[in-house]
Amino acid sequence: MAAPIDKLFVREFERKDGSILTINQSEVGDVGCVVWDAAIVLSCYMETSDFYDVNANKNILAGKRVIELGAGTGLVGLQAACLGAKCTVTDLSEFIPLMQLNIDANRHMVKTGSITAQTLKWGSDIVSFLPAPDYILLADCIYYPQSLEPLVDTVVKLSSSRTITLCCYEERTTGNKPELEKNFFKLIHESFTVEEIPLSRQDVTYRSPDIHIMRFTLR
Ligand SMILES: C[S@@+](CC[C@H](N)C(=O)[O-])C[C@H]1O[C@@H](n2cnc3c(N)ncnc32)[C@H](O)[C@@H]1O
Repeated sequence: MAAPIDKLFVREFERKDGSILTINQSEVGDVGCVVWDAAIVLSCYMETSDFYDVNANKNILAGKRVIELGAGTGLVGLQAACLGAKCTVTDLSEFIPLMQLNIDANRHMVKTGSITAQTLKWGSDIVSFLPAPDYILLADCIYYPQSLEPLVDTVVKLSSSRTITLCCYEERTTGNKPELEKNFFKLIHESFTVEEIPLSRQDVTYRSPDIHIMRFTLR
């Protein structure tokens, strides 16, 4: 179901410089209509010292090509664009209007970067998204079994040897969720070297032992 854009409520995300990203969420609709905690954790991580190039005196995302998959409301991609990335935020077609609304609402915050919303269904053709981005961002995208293979396939096909994927997910212990996560990482390990970003390198406030940030690079 398309996210209706008349039953909205706002979540404000405060950036390190005190500026606020205003993210519209929808009362009605599927999981992509709200901001998930993994998106907050990943957005905050992108402003830590891991992302700071001391020599160039700028965030390492500045000028980089970034694609966010399963972007939902678009918070993570907007943060990347605010940090100077040339970002494409993607999701199923029904989420594009809400994402576009959020891009328009925060356009004034994007100075040297850029951001566009585009439909990308996992497992479908990715040719129009090439050449390979410098970064692929995923927040809370591991949540149903049928999506695992298409999602991993998309990450593989979008990646070059230089692409870094950051996958932030909330570890869930109920139902089939532990098995889902296991199966996702089994597939990921077939193609990628995987490193976990320790809590000590994450944002001091917006981090949690049950929210993991993983870094994938092609083997
Ligand atoms: C739990 S939400 C996370 C949204 C956002 N990344 C966040 O963390 O706030 C999962 C997102 O994945 C998207 N998604 C699910 N299946 C998809 C598919 N086959 N292709 C593209 N996106 C998909 C959903 O529409 C939704 O926006």
